[in-house]
Amino acid sequence: MKLINITTLAAVAALSFTAPSFAEGDAAEGATVFKKCKACHSLEVGKKKIGPSLAGVLGRTAGTSEGYKYSKAMKAYGVVWSEETLAVYLVAPRKVVKGTKMGFPGLKKPEDIANLLAYLKENGGS
Ligand code: HEC
Repeated sequence: MKLINITTLAAVAALSFTAPSFAEGDAAEGATVFKKCKACHSLEVGKKKIGPSLAGVLGRTAGTSEGYKYSKAMKAYGVVWSEETLAVYLVAPRKVVKGTKMGFPGLKKPEDIANLLAYLKENGGS
């Protein structure tokens, strides 16, 4: 039992220590990363594609962009999108939100996520 607890704690600690380091990204590099999202997401208010608009996504509760039909899984996820929650989600969307209809495997490199977040902040992600 003890071993399991230690492993769990280590995993939680690793997560909470990596998230803040995502804060300093390069928006120009992030524009390149966003090309992977662009087929399905716009940064224009209310303009949905295959996925919801990401305008104002930071600070928004998951599954609440008006006029977009989300999966039950995303509506139930319920987190408020922040740099930390987006970083957790974008590593492995389909593992983090089981049943999401976002067909994207994830961003494996922490620097891609940091750069993407910098880009979103400068381009209407809020
Ligand atoms: C193949 C299409 C596709 C790609 C590529 C894609 N997404 Fe998505 N995304 C979706 C769909 C569809 C949803 C809605 C998921 C649901 O309802 O389960 C979504 C949902 C989201 C959400 C939740 C939005 C909300 O309003 O709660 C975020 C954040 C997001 N995507 C970010 C990204 C980012 C950042 C990228 C690029 C790294 C990306 N997505 C790439 C299709 C895609």
